[in-house]
Amino acid sequence: MGTAIEYGADVAERPSGPPKLPSGRLRYAESETLATPRMRYGMLARMMFTPVDILYGRQGSFTKFAMLEIIARVPYQAWERVGYWALHRHAGRSVLARRVFDRIVDARADQDNEQWHLLIMQDLVQRNGMRQSWLRHRVLPWLISFFYYHVSWVLFLIRPAWSYRLNAEFEDHAEHEYMSFVAAHPELDHEPDPGTYAAEYGRFASVADLVRQIGHDERVHKLDSLRRITPLHG
Ligand SMILES: [Fe+2]
Ligand SMILES: [Fe+2]
Repeated sequence: MGTAIEYGADVAERPSGPPKLPSGRLRYAESETLATPRMRYGMLARMMFTPVDILYGRQGSFTKFAMLEIIARVPYQAWERVGYWALHRHAGRSVLARRVFDRIVDARADQDNEQWHLLIMQDLVQRNGMRQSWLRHRVLPWLISFFYYHVSWVLFLIRPAWSYRLNAEFEDHAEHEYMSFVAAHPELDHEPDPGTYAAEYGRFASVADLVRQIGHDERVHKLDSLRRITPLHG
């Protein structure tokens, strides 16, 4: 009797998120980030970072990170939407349509990854008893997200490289914010990872390592965006 074929066993289209690193690699990633200068942020990025620093403090905090994570998934949503438009347009060209669809799948995976970051930060905010106001943590993130979403898809339609560059700057900012925060708070190395989302995101040796892992995810997002500045048709 032949072996039954397991239909669907190897057709997962879900790309895995950025790699989860062991503790030693996470510490090394922190030192790499701190030794790397920030990118030169353009006008649009500074239009978001400056009010965020004024309203939420220049120093990192779990509340500031939760706010930034609300905004972080926005360009991926915009690219997903534009991707479906492109898919429709190129429906008759299967190779190109397939490449567009691969990017849609990637954009969805990155949204999920940013969503885990947000859930983890919200959990840390609540565990630390930090307060979030309706105006600063609901209304303003929504307004900034609204701005960022429309800027992302308009830039993408004009020139995709501009949209990827803006996201790379946002991700570079996030990577440095997380790693600088860990460096400034050595006590987090002695605080156990609460593991609230361990099943979905992994479990780490400490809150510091959890934050380092998120910082490393942001680096991977940045490098992906920088790589994609190369045109799709190229
Ligand atoms: Fe993030
Ligand atoms: Fe990110």
